[in-house]
Amino acid sequence: MARIVFVDPKGVSHEVQGAIGATVMDTAVKNGVPGIVAECGGFLSCASCHVYVDDAWIDRVGRPEDADDPTEAEILDDAMAECQPGSRLSCQVVITEELDGLLVRVSPEQF
Ligand code: FES
Repeated sequence: MARIVFVDPKGVSHEVQGAIGATVMDTAVKNGVPGIVAECGGFLSCASCHVYVDDAWIDRVGRPEDADDPTEAEILDDAMAECQPGSRLSCQVVITEELDGLLVRVSPEQF
């Protein structure tokens, strides 16, 4: 298990435990984290799982443009919420032991 901390737009932290191999989105939904809507269920077509990965974690998480598949970067470009350097679709972030303690902020447009 890995500890994942979601911070909502009001600054309230929601700390949950995620299984290694699960996605950050699945972990948020299973734990009722507000603002992770995940309308498409993780099929990379809705952007309602948008999070901002904290600067201290982005190198470990990776950036969407590093992926072979350009779909995530394209969807983020069209997302309602402003794209920032730490923007990721949380359904595309798989939890590993290296992500224990991961801090992400939930996009305000999802509230
Ligand atoms: S849940 Fe729809 S893009 Fe992530």
